[in-house]
Order: sequence, then C-alpha cells, then structure tokens
Amino acid sequence: MTMPAAPSEPGNTPESIADPLLSWRKEFPILEHTTYMISHSLGPMPRRAQTAIKEFTDTWATRGIRAWEEGWWEMPLTCGDLIGSIIGAPKGRVVMHQNVSICQSIVTSCFNWSGNRNKLVSDGLNFPSNDYIYYGLERLGAKIVSIASPDGITVPLDHILDAIDRQTQLVSISHVAFRSSSLLDLAAISKRAHEVGAYIVADLYQSAGIVPVDVTALELDFATGGSVKWLLGGPGAGYLYVRPDLDSALTPAATGWAAHAQPFEFINGPIQYAADMHRFLNGTPNIPAMYSARSGYEIVNQIGVEAIRAKSKRQTQLLITLADESGLVVRSPREPESRGGTIILDVPDGRAVTAELGRRQILVDFRPGAGIRIAPHFYTSDSEIVHTLHELNCIVRH
Ligand SMILES: Cc1ncc(COP(=O)(O)O)c(C=O)c1O
Repeated sequence: MTMPAAPSEPGNTPESIADPLLSWRKEFPILEHTTYMISHSLGPMPRRAQTAIKEFTDTWATRGIRAWEEGWWEMPLTCGDLIGSIIGAPKGRVVMHQNVSICQSIVTSCFNWSGNRNKLVSDGLNFPSNDYIYYGLERLGAKIVSIASPDGITVPLDHILDAIDRQTQLVSISHVAFRSSSLLDLAAISKRAHEVGAYIVADLYQSAGIVPVDVTALELDFATGGSVKWLLGGPGAGYLYVRPDLDSALTPAATGWAAHAQPFEFINGPIQYAADMHRFLNGTPNIPAMYSARSGYEIVNQIGVEAIRAKSKRQTQLLITLADESGLVVRSPREPESRGGTIILDVPDGRAVTAELGRRQILVDFRPGAGIRIAPHFYTSDSEIVHTLHELNCIVRH
C-alpha cells in the first residue's frame, strides 16, 4: 500500500494565513513530526513548560526552604486563578490538587449521607473514577441514582431533571462526556438542583479549554477538572472550584493540615477550618506539576476559549463530513452546540486501527464501547484532519 505524504508544516501556506491559530504550532515540539489528535487525553507539551520546570528546580536549588514563603505555599491558589479566568471563577476560588478523583472525594466528603437527603444523582456518562467515589458513599448511607444513556452517546436531559428531587443532596454532571463528547445543559440542571435545595458539581475536564464555561453564570456549587487534556498542562494538576458563598456551610471530611486556619501552629485535635478557599486544601501541594501546568493555562488564556471553540466546531464538523463521505459510523452528537472537541468514530477492530495510526505518526485513542476518539485543537491544520481520515480509511479498507 502506498502511503500518502503527511501534511507539510503550515509555515507560510495559504492555510496558515487563513487560520492565525496555526502560528501556535511552533510552541509544541511534537507537532514537528506527529499528527496530534489526542488532546482529549494528553495535550502536547508547550515548549515553555521546559523552562517552567527549570524555574522550579532553580528555585529549589537556590532558595531552598524559603521558596515556600516566596510563592510555593500559595501556589495552589495563584495557579488556580489561571484556571479561574478560563472557567469564569472569581479570584481565589479555585484550588489546585493532584487530580479530579481527589477533588471529587473532597466535595462528597462535605455532606452527611445518612439523613433523608441522601440521594446523589449522576449522569450515566460520568467518568468511572467519579462513579467509584460515589458508590463508595453507599456505606455511609448514600443512595446513588445514575441516569442511564440509552444510546451510549447522550443522557436525556429530562431524565436527569426528573430524578432530581427533595431527597437529592448532590447532582454530579460531566459537562462533556469522555466517551461520546456529548455536552449536557449545565444551566438547566443547575437551576433544577437549586430549586429543590440540592448542590451541583460539574466535571469540566472535557470542556474547560475547548468549550466556553462560566461557573459563576451557571451558578455551579462545585467544579472539578484537570490539566492533562485541553489545558495542555501535563499530569499532576487537578483543580477544584467552590462557589464563594459556600465556605461557612461546608466542612470537608477529606482534609489535611493545609486546610487549617493556622496551619503553622500545628494544633492537634479536630481541625479548625480556614475561613476561605484554603479550607478545601489538604496536604503538601504538588509544586512541580503546577510549574509545568501554568504554561498551558497561560496559552489558553492568551488565545481565549471563544476562538478555540469556533475553530473546534468547524474542524469537528469537517471530521464528521469526511467520516460520512467514507461511510464511517459517527458516535458523537452531530449538532455542534451539543458536542465538545472530540469526534468518536466506530470502526471494526478500533483498537488495532488506533495502533496502526500510531505507527503512522497519527495519535488518537480507542475507548471500548465507544470507538476511536479524534480531537483537533487550536494548533491543528485542516490538512492534518484530511490526512487522518485518509489514513484511517486506508487502514479500515485494507
Ligand atoms: C471527564 C473526566 N473526568 C475525570 C478524568 C480523570 O480524572 P483524574 O484527574 O482523577 O485522573 C477524565 C480523564 O481521564 C475525564 O475525561
């Protein structure tokens, strides 16, 4: 089989003139030799992350323990502010943790699950880690109601709304489903949760950085997410947003000394929580991960999610059009407003096809029960999309 040449670097081509976001390509070394369609899983490393990591080691080497009071201690909040400006949170309302699983554990530990209000309503396309945490609450008296997806692509909004009642303590929604890229109407769900006195937590991992989100306008109580994917921050930096007026009402059982009002007094016994967002911290923060993660957040802030989303909608549509032309099965919503930045294509032997694409320097991934996930981001050229679909078709046909 003859292999068509990979698309050339856009450089000063008509495509790069028409699409100014392509000028960001030089910031990502891997794009020099790889068609990178996998930022729903691990975004490419920004060149400046190397400098940032060096800044971390230089600071550690030269400032030693003084680094804590010179910025490290407050870094979960100062770094969180960079996320805050992407998701519409006020300053000081986002704290960094290691990952979403920890953030979700902190959120669920704020509630008493043994009373009458013991129901946790979750969407059936939520990330499995969240489910594992929720079902673990059953031993504390929680009743978990997971709203099934009839087609594996969407969870019907009215089914979610109908399940939220006065026994509901917490509603958990994955804004964009990792399996299908379908996008749920957070505004409607948030409104319904608050009507019955329930709280809402949204997992923004698959939306923040690719779909505009405004946690304040949506009146979310909590939001969680991480840096690995669309935010291009690398592993080890998850984030938690908590609505500003909730501090005094919430006392997370999953806690640690950094959440104490006077952490450096080292007082034994029950915790006296910090009055502000620090109360949602736990132990020693993951400093190197935050150094590297900031690079990605800065880039996303600089470009702006509106511009990223406009391009993403156009390119995901291009993917769907090309897939339709080839008779491939699309397992993502077709309406641009109803999907995130990934398109899932179901082909026979999807795992093997994914591996072969990888051998051809085209990085995508495969999820069982879903298909091949393909994600352009702001640095993707249209010719890379055409190339990806062409290679995928060749592999499937032969
Ligand atoms: C929607 C969503 N939530 C959570 C996670 C992972 O969470 P954690 O940060 O705990 O690894 C992922 C992806 O891996 C995801 O797609």
